[in-house]
Amino acid sequence: MTLAETRASLDQALEEARAAIAGAASTDELKEIERGFIGKRSPVAAASKSIKDLAPEDRPAVGQAVSSYKQSVAELLESRREELTGVTAEVAGIDLTIGGHGLTRGHLHLVNQVRRELEDVFVGLGFWVAEGPEAELDWYNFEVLNMPPAHPARDMQDTIYLELGDPQQVLLRTHTSAVQARVMERMQPPIYCVVPGRTFRKETLDARHSPMFHQIEGLVVDRGITMADLFGTIEAFTRTYFGPTIQARFRPDFFPYTEPSAEYAVTCIFCEGSGCSVCSRTGWIELGGCGMVDPNVFGAVGYDPEVYTGFAFGFGLERMTMIRYGVDHVKTFFENDDRFLRQF
Ligand code: DAH
Repeated sequence: MTLAETRASLDQALEEARAAIAGAASTDELKEIERGFIGKRSPVAAASKSIKDLAPEDRPAVGQAVSSYKQSVAELLESRREELTGVTAEVAGIDLTIGGHGLTRGHLHLVNQVRRELEDVFVGLGFWVAEGPEAELDWYNFEVLNMPPAHPARDMQDTIYLELGDPQQVLLRTHTSAVQARVMERMQPPIYCVVPGRTFRKETLDARHSPMFHQIEGLVVDRGITMADLFGTIEAFTRTYFGPTIQARFRPDFFPYTEPSAEYAVTCIFCEGSGCSVCSRTGWIELGGCGMVDPNVFGAVGYDPEVYTGFAFGFGLERMTMIRYGVDHVKTFFENDDRFLRQF
């Protein structure tokens, strides 16, 4: 065969292949067509075998014609196969499953959600929200609150001191009560404020303790404030935040900065008051302390205790969260286990 004859017969074979491929109804049929048009026994196979018999100057041109024919048939087969199976050859070989763990949207930690809810409740009762520093002076954390150096009440709160300033003068605040005097020295009564924030004590993390936890402090100073205002406010708060099934209980207690002082507890939601391991079988969960501001504290900030009276309270936010959301271990707040956190 001459070069021209070979080209002509390949062109014709290509047209026949095109028609056959377009008419194929299955991939099996395509395999048949492939064998017939470019397989070992196809005319093109014979043509490539005969290249060696051609005049040397014709060989490249025939070789090119043969390979372009083969490529065209292969492409036609491929695109028809895609049509029949609905999958492209390249994609079929690649796993397109998206890897990784996906992205979930974050949200506020449960304790911070509670902090905001509590702020809302107290703002609804007419309070405003104040803040103070976490690294605090001994003066505000202890001394101004009627706890001079070596006062035994200091031992109730294992303090973390910072190596700043004079020895043992700068510490991580052990309670939000440290902000009371900071508020009072900056303004004159009337004061109706709450102070949420982080507090720190030298504790090892276990089911009931944590070296870092949160409190919300309350401070009211005005003319004619009585203990009835204190109990009335906390009872109103208890009803609003925990609902009608939870009761508030007050028992006498002692704090150097309030006189008289009381402990505030609410019905244990886990056993509804009958006693369980969370409430140490008492039926009550202690949330914090409260009382009437001691006249010595007013004296230290320059308020006249003959004119003003006031009350203060300090509650543990983690405890409140446990009751509001039915969480029975403090530890779960700090473990960063996403299975716990994403429930809220
Ligand atoms: N500061 C106390 C504590 O951390 C709680 C407390 C008790 C706060 C009585 C007060 C209060 O304001 O009047 O245990």
